[in-house]
Amino acid sequence: MTTIGSSFSDKDLSRVREQTPGVSGRIHLDNCGSALMAQPVIDEISAVFQREIAVGGYVAQEQQADKLSSSYNLLAELFDGHADDFAFVGSAVDGWTKAFYSVPFEPGDNIVTAYNEYCSNYVAYLQVAKLRGVEIRVARQADAGGIDLNHLNELVDSRTRLISISHMPSSSGEINQVQDVGLIAREKGVLYQLDACQSAGHIPVSIADIGCDIMTGTSRKFLRGPRGIGFLYVNEKARSLMEPVVLTNQSAEWSAQDAYSLRQDTKVFEAWERSVTNQLGFAVAIQYLLDLGVEKATNQIANNATYLRKQLPNVKGVRVECPPNAVSAIITLNKDGLTPSDIKSRLEKQAIGVQVASVVHTRLDLEARGIESAVRVSPHYYTSQSDMDGFLNALEAL
Ligand SMILES: Cc1ncc(COP(=O)(O)O)c(C=O)c1O
Repeated sequence: MTTIGSSFSDKDLSRVREQTPGVSGRIHLDNCGSALMAQPVIDEISAVFQREIAVGGYVAQEQQADKLSSSYNLLAELFDGHADDFAFVGSAVDGWTKAFYSVPFEPGDNIVTAYNEYCSNYVAYLQVAKLRGVEIRVARQADAGGIDLNHLNELVDSRTRLISISHMPSSSGEINQVQDVGLIAREKGVLYQLDACQSAGHIPVSIADIGCDIMTGTSRKFLRGPRGIGFLYVNEKARSLMEPVVLTNQSAEWSAQDAYSLRQDTKVFEAWERSVTNQLGFAVAIQYLLDLGVEKATNQIANNATYLRKQLPNVKGVRVECPPNAVSAIITLNKDGLTPSDIKSRLEKQAIGVQVASVVHTRLDLEARGIESAVRVSPHYYTSQSDMDGFLNALEAL
């Protein structure tokens, strides 16, 4: 039996598992869909909810003003940015669309993206192409995998209004070369929007290193926070070039009968009414990761991914569907004689949670590789070797 080269000691793993109620009696391998919350996160959510019940939402919010305000500092610490450049939003897509639709596209402009772009982002490109006469340019996959950076560089010209890519596509296991794309964006002076929904909490993400102007992500995936909340990062340069597509009572103050004044920070994209419970739960999830150590936690995720990637080809009838350069903890596979949905439902009966990825999620990439759908498996750092072996054995036995 191969053992995992772990960055966690046995004690570390036991501790995080003891603090994760969801791991008992179940093998959870859908962390890129929605991960399991840690006990401190669950405790915070329960406490805030109880406080809202006791004193009402507004008083509860006032009582926790300090914690709410420091939650922006936590995002800044985790992602190496400035607190004023972050906003809490309802989801990754909510933040992404608010930023994207605020870019002042004009007819004849173009958007440069990549072959493995996420569905929700791509339909927005298609819509602005239709409504505003913007051209979509797609950087192809390099022969060795990943974005063909020369091609992307060639696609950027004086009419490029935005370079917009995903850090990790949702169904291939690749990690895009976001830092190299950042260099191109800076050199050409083009706004750079990054969808970090699958990379946040999965690998270290530093805005300062990547050089993106806009970045989005969610709480519920590798960051292990609650559902219904995400974050949006927009730096000062990007804010100065954008006109918020919608204004709210949080974005702007109604300063005179015929005037308003806009907020100057990224909270200009935030809604006043949002879940304080989720925001504080998310903050605790970030603090939990910072306390654990981002490098240690993400190394452990990588080790688990390596283990599964090594073992899966030995499972009879299984074909890993990821391109050869894929290393992330998002692993796609198919098994002879079974549909991905069959596999998912039969594993679920054994309390093993996996997901199905379909061509609609990353159409350009999956269509080019002839994949209609695949089982998607994503371990976290709290996934044990016995979890993974349990899954591999169950998959073999199907
Ligand atoms: C790359 C990518 N971006 C965005 C999203 C959407 O995130 P949310 O559902 O939080 O809006 C996902 C979800 O799977 C994703 O994989």
